[in-house]
Amino acid sequence: MAAREKSQRIGVFPGSFDPIHNGHLDLVERSLGLFDQVIVAVLDNESKRPVFTVEERVEMLEELFERRASVRIESFSGLLVDFARAVSAGTLIRGLRTGADFDYELPMALMNRRLFPELETIFLVPRAEYADLSSSLIKEVCRLGGEVSGLLPEGVRKRLEGKLRG
Ligand code: PNS
Repeated sequence: MAAREKSQRIGVFPGSFDPIHNGHLDLVERSLGLFDQVIVAVLDNESKRPVFTVEERVEMLEELFERRASVRIESFSGLLVDFARAVSAGTLIRGLRTGADFDYELPMALMNRRLFPELETIFLVPRAEYADLSSSLIKEVCRLGGEVSGLLPEGVRKRLEGKLRG
């Protein structure tokens, strides 16, 4: 059993997930085709002023993935590489939608490599219909009364509307 656990391919999909949307879900599904276990790692950082607390974000993710034995939900604070080391992950998974994402991601991937050379970062591309989705845009549209159905899971949408429209 221990030997089997050792040989498991573990990928960490880190992010703020404030809140999770369909683009994120698509990336988790794609990651499951590449790894034995995918750990969705929720950044616990109040300085980003999230709409949802880290406990709420973890709870929503746990509900969404409760039937997926190969998906684990964790929160982390501090350096992502330290978290990856602690959970024996060999790979970080990030999404790439646009060139702007690449400009944001490349320095992080290179810094993470500096800190933990054995850890790889891979970039996955979401389905084209989700390529314009971001948590911040969804929050802005929702806050201003726009329709966000179909962009994120229904339960998450309801909780977001509850938060932003009171
Ligand atoms: O969903 P986000 O907000 O784009 O995710 C950003 C995240 C969580 C991947 C990034 O902020 C991060 O890794 N934070 C942890 C702190 C850290 O390790 N910083 C150095 C990264 S080079």
